[in-house]
Order: sequence, then C-alpha cells, then structure tokens
Amino acid sequence: MTEIRFAFGENWQSFVATAVDDRRIANAIESLKRLLQTEDLRGLAFLDIGCGSGLFSLAAVMLGAERVVGFDLDAGSVEASRTLRGRADVGEEKWRIVQGSVLDPAFLAGLEPADMVYSWGVLHHTGSMWAAIDAAAGKIRPGGRFALAVYNNVEDFVGGSAMWLRLKRWYNRSPRPVRTVMEWSYGGSLLARKLLRLRSPWRFLREYPQRSGRGMDFWHDVRDWIGGFPYEYATAGEVFRYLHERHGLELTYLDTHDGHGCNEFAFLRPGAWEGASNVTPAATAAQAGNESRIPGEAGGTGPAPGAKAGGVGGTNREREAGP
Ligand SMILES: C[S@@+](CC[C@H](N)C(=O)[O-])C[C@H]1O[C@@H](n2cnc3c(N)ncnc32)[C@H](O)[C@@H]1O
Repeated sequence: MTEIRFAFGENWQSFVATAVDDRRIANAIESLKRLLQTEDLRGLAFLDIGCGSGLFSLAAVMLGAERVVGFDLDAGSVEASRTLRGRADVGEEKWRIVQGSVLDPAFLAGLEPADMVYSWGVLHHTGSMWAAIDAAAGKIRPGGRFALAVYNNVEDFVGGSAMWLRLKRWYNRSPRPVRTVMEWSYGGSLLARKLLRLRSPWRFLREYPQRSGRGMDFWHDVRDWIGGFPYEYATAGEVFRYLHERHGLELTYLDTHDGHGCNEFAFLRPGAWEGASNVTPAATAAQAGNESRIPGEAGGTGPAPGAKAGGVGGTNREREAGP
C-alpha cells in the first residue's frame, strides 16, 4: 500500500455539483456505446469498478442495463455517485453503490460477476495495478466484456511517465496553495498552447465534454491528471499481452494514445453468452475502417511508433494531453 493518495472523491463531488448535465450524460452514453460496441445494455449486469462520479454507471442505467453495481475506494466518490443517482431518481435495486477496494478479495467475493465489467482510469491508481487487473478480470462472466483504460507508458526523460510520477508525488505532498498554482500553471499552459496554434481556448473549453469523448470537464480533468496518485502505467502491448495470455481474453476494441493519456481497451471473455445477444461479435479492423494493429511488440504487431488512435474497433477522435 502506498502512503499518499489523491482525493479523487473531492474532485468528483465538485464535478457532479458543478458540471454534470444532460450534454455530458449524452457524451458518456456515446463513449460506453463506442467502447462496448453495443447500442444498449438491456438484460445485462454492469459492474463499475472505481465508479468516481457515477457518470458511467448512470450511462449504463440509461442504456438499459438490468442491474448496475458501482463501487469505489474513496468515500467522496461513493457520495458523488449517490448524489448523481438521487438526481437521476434511480432506485437502489437498479443501481447499487458501495464503498470498497478492487484489491480486497473478501469485498470482491461479495459481488456477483457481471456481463460488463467497466474500469476506466482506475486500476493504475490502486497502488498495485497488475493485481487490480487480475481482480477485475476475475469478475467477468463467460461471454462478458471487460472495458478498461490504463495510462500509457512514455519513456522520454523529459515529460515521460517517470517525470509525471515525480510531479504527482510532489503535488500530493504540497499544501493547498501550491497545488492550486500547479493546477493553474499546467491547465494554463495547455490553453496557451491552443492560442499559439491560433485556436480559441474558449471554444476548446466549450467543446471539451465532447472532445474528451466522455463528457468530462477540463479543470476537473487537469486536477485529476496532475494529482491522480498512486500512479502506474503500461504500454498498450503490455496490457494486451497480460490479459490475453494470462486471462485468455480476446481484444475487441483498442484506442491507443501517443502521449501520457489512457489507452482504452475492451476484451471479451470467451464462453457461453449468458446475457442478451445485443453486443456485436469481436470487431474487425474493417468495421473500424482502420488497419488492425493488435499490440504485441514481440510479434512485431504492436502499435506503430507515434500511433495516435485507432486499431481494433478504435476511433480517431481527438484526445487531449494527460495524465
Ligand atoms: C480517475 S478516477 C476514474 C473514475 C471513473 N471510472 C471515470 O471514468 O470517470 C479513479 C477512481 O478510482 C478509484 N480507486 C482508486 N483505487 C481504488 C481501489 N483500490 N478500488 C476501487 N476504486 C479505486 C478512485 O477513488 C477514483 O474515484
């Protein structure tokens, strides 16, 4: 276990209080449809590991999931999710929200395996990423899907993942005023870069929920990127090989990132489909209109150097810098 931890819940409570609206909910719904390659989740059980604001649990409810269970380690995130559930007027029998850790085997044993296991941007913040990936993968029903996003590994000396690790540690050890200065400096530098490229920062901020692809908010994201700790990272190839070789999962969706942002994946656990048959079979590169680039450096089929987005079932939407 790690000694410092970013107050994710505080950030998510503020996001729910100030930012979540119908437009962001619609963006979140679209992101789930894209990642899970389905038009709806009717009849399916959805498990949201590290549910944060609860926005994606709500999206799953709105896509017709039979039952949604969301959990998070941070009491503030649980509170944020419950606030959103109350606002959406969804009952607890449909959408259950509990506090717990993906690294706690006793807690996990009390949860039903799900048709859709969703853990976006979570497992690299647990302090034990590969154990958390094992635990999450253990909750997928045969025939079910596992959607996850994991920070990319960038090895550059300046601006690489190791530098971000030091920066995040420094942020979390700093008093509030220093953290605020760090947030403004980083967020401001990203906006200034827009100006230098003769793009309007105001337009960028306005369009951010859609540009992020997930209904997010720029300043809450900045705080999450600069503060999100514990922090681990892996290349797309490492995540793919781990889940494919160790857990026997098949890749159905991949969206890679050439910076520090998250690579997104969806995997299928082969086996009898116990839920509704509304999810398309494993996507092909032809469907996505892209060359297939299943990661795996050893086989020479890893993401092309500098690959941005695309691959198996991938997209070419714009994504901003992170962590
Ligand atoms: C970057 S947020 C992502 C939230 C949400 N999945 C989303 O996509 O908006 C990461 C979340 O993971 C939660 N988390 C960190 N470690 C965890 C653990 N061991 N078990 C469950 N949740 C955890 C944090 O509290 C935080 O709410």
